Amino acid sequence: MHQDNVMEVPLFLLILVTTFIVVGKAVHPGCECLVFSTLYGKEKGTFKSPDFPKPYSPNIDCLLYTFIGNSDEIIELTLTDFDVQKTKFGCIHGDYVKVFMHLESAGVNEYTPWETLLCGRLADIPTVLYSSGPGLVLEFHSGSQTANSTGFSGTFRFIDRKKFRTDGLKLPSTMCDYQFLSSEHSPLYGKFYSPRFPSSYPKNIRCTYRFRARYKERIRVVFEEVALQKGDISCLDRADIIRVYDGKTAADQSITVLCNEGNEIEILSTGSDLFIEFVANSDWPGQGFKARFQFQPSDDNSIDSHSYNRLRTYSSPTETEPNVSETRSSCDIIISSDTNRNGTIMSPSYPSPYPPKTTCRYEFQGRGKERVRIVFQDFNLYHTSEVTKNCENMDSLNAFINIDGRMEKIDNFCGNVLPKPIMSNGPRLKLEFQSLVASRYSRGFKATYSFIENFGITTGTQLQTYPCAFVFNSNESRSGYFHSPNYPGLYPRDTECHYFLYGNASEKIHLHFEYFDVEGVLPCEAVSASDYVEFSNYLTRDRKYSRYCGQLKEFDIESDRKFFRVTFRSNDRLDGTGFNATYHFLDEVESLAKKPSDKSDSPNRKDGLRLLLLLFIFLLTKLGT
Ligand SMILES: *[C@@H]1O[C@H](CO)[C@@H](O)[C@H](O)[C@H]1NC(C)=O
Ligand SMILES: *[C@@H]1O[C@H](CO)[C@@H](O)[C@H](O)[C@H]1NC(C)=O
Ligand SMILES: *[C@@H]1O[C@H](CO)[C@@H](O)[C@H](O)[C@H]1NC(C)=O
Ligand SMILES: *[C@@H]1O[C@H](CO)[C@@H](O)[C@H](O)[C@H]1NC(C)=O
Ligand SMILES: *[C@@H]1O[C@H](CO)[C@@H](O)[C@H](O)[C@H]1NC(C)=O
Ligand SMILES: *[C@@H]1O[C@H](CO)[C@@H](O)[C@H](O)[C@H]1NC(C)=O
Repeated sequence: MHQDNVMEVPLFLLILVTTFIVVGKAVHPGCECLVFSTLYGKEKGTFKSPDFPKPYSPNIDCLLYTFIGNSDEIIELTLTDFDVQKTKFGCIHGDYVKVFMHLESAGVNEYTPWETLLCGRLADIPTVLYSSGPGLVLEFHSGSQTANSTGFSGTFRFIDRKKFRTDGLKLPSTMCDYQFLSSEHSPLYGKFYSPRFPSSYPKNIRCTYRFRARYKERIRVVFEEVALQKGDISCLDRADIIRVYDGKTAADQSITVLCNEGNEIEILSTGSDLFIEFVANSDWPGQGFKARFQFQPSDDNSIDSHSYNRLRTYSSPTETEPNVSETRSSCDIIISSDTNRNGTIMSPSYPSPYPPKTTCRYEFQGRGKERVRIVFQDFNLYHTSEVTKNCENMDSLNAFINIDGRMEKIDNFCGNVLPKPIMSNGPRLKLEFQSLVASRYSRGFKATYSFIENFGITTGTQLQTYPCAFVFNSNESRSGYFHSPNYPGLYPRDTECHYFLYGNASEKIHLHFEYFDVEGVLPCEAVSASDYVEFSNYLTRDRKYSRYCGQLKEFDIESDRKFFRVTFRSNDRLDGTGFNATYHFLDEVESLAKKPSDKSDSPNRKDGLRLLLLLFIFLLTKLGT
């Protein structure tokens, strides 16, 4: 049943599969050719540029490194050193290494499509390259200018292609549409991959992955690796995207969209269907994704043993465990949204004093697009000395979320200041209450929890087609406010929310941000690991507005026309408390009249007229001086 989507490759039949330097014109006229086809029983082979580590010479017109495996193998190249002179006009105009990863016929010539050009330093390039079939070619070229660049060296090995086979049923006459049905005869778990993974995926494709569980089962999917496009541009603008829906088709509720890079992203279906769509239309395909799935009983809230072990092993070393002999109490609880969508949690014996030397864990397990939100009602823990920021050696409550497959601490609380609300980045959250000392005056804590789908954003109308998007129509309300997810608490990580404001034909939108704290540094880009807020007059990116991040004083911003988009995006590191903004739909003339520079008191003038007037005044004053 399993059918790979890579065609049989009668590769390199022309090339004699011996081993060393074949100088000749067989493949590419004028090219020297090095062939690597055996490892002589070793695990890895090596290759390097001429004279490495001494600088390579100029005028190497073309030197081909040809790697050939068996028909069921792919090739993995790892570049360990890389220094190829980069000119300011790009790789193609200087020295370069051209990479052919998807070879369909024997050899390469000047018409063979190549996938990527490498030049510069090791940090500028992908250091691991994979072919999609049994052949891979590197073409090395150096120009006439001498340089001191040392070239490259690396290792290669052959990998069994079956390791990357999707464990689903490929639908007949489709390129990459798969179905995964739970039955007595099929395994309850497996793997699935983007086409050609771990090599780059083809351009202009659409693949679907449909999961169908049995009654009282749900689907758990973990994207172990996602590498589409680098950077942090909003998924609204992306040509390569993975969309996950909580049902049978793309008409169902959107759980998440992925368009950048990430690891160990966990998804749980609400019911017995899950639908995943992968679309790639960009010119520079990434590596794609690697994921595992599991059909699990709906009432099984435990995490599969694989990640459960990871939870255990990873959570301890990062945290300083208190040096007390723990009194294990019956206070550990697991709360699933299947049984309770909301409720209350408390420290042991609340509101009476909690016992000393106690640890209680509260684990929350949502599904679909649900996030866990905790809102505190009372907080009163014992502390002697001054309360420190990390609550060392004190009674405390710690919050953990799943990041890259391990439970990472996002916050801790101690003393008796009421904490702000907490929100998870996905379906899971863990709280850990630890008492070292306790006293008869400390009540402990009380909080409500809820599994929510609206990210704590209660204004506007939520759209089902995006994981987090809200619409504000002027025909419903001409003014109001909106805020970041979980405001005034810390916003959740790995979250993108859109706010779409629609006016009628003669309106524009005025926003006033009264509070703004979005973690990042200007210009709020991926390199500085910044979260950001972006504005646009379109659904796509608008170069008119630069990104906003940092802690800002109050500010105003206005749309050009009747539509405005505000997008908030957070990454997997550090948080802020977000923003709260008010909006007003203004008649276009109304907003002009409000501008301080406006001296005209005729509210009906149009833009053009105003400009003329200003120009006229300007000329008058010029003439006057
Ligand atoms: C190359 O390196 C040598 C020794 O490091 C140096 O003397 C020489 O000036 C360099 N040449 C160029 C063109 O950078
Ligand atoms: C933990 O307590 C034990 C016994 O009281 C003591 O010997 C040990 O040094 C303590 N360890 C730390 C890290 O404080
Ligand atoms: C808790 O859920 C119930 C039933 O879904 C709902 O009626 C109630 O308003 C919720 N309470 C809170 C505090 O959200
Ligand atoms: C407001 O306008 C939108 C889009 O034009 C429309 O879908 C919606 O039904 C309108 N709402 C009301 C209350 O008229
Ligand atoms: C837009 O809305 C404003 C305020 O409700 C109204 O006065 C105006 O006539 C509307 N314009 C159009 C073109 O519908
Ligand atoms: C956000 O600002 C609005 C308008 O000033 C205010 O009414 C609202 O309470 C604020 N929201 C929060 C959560 O503080």
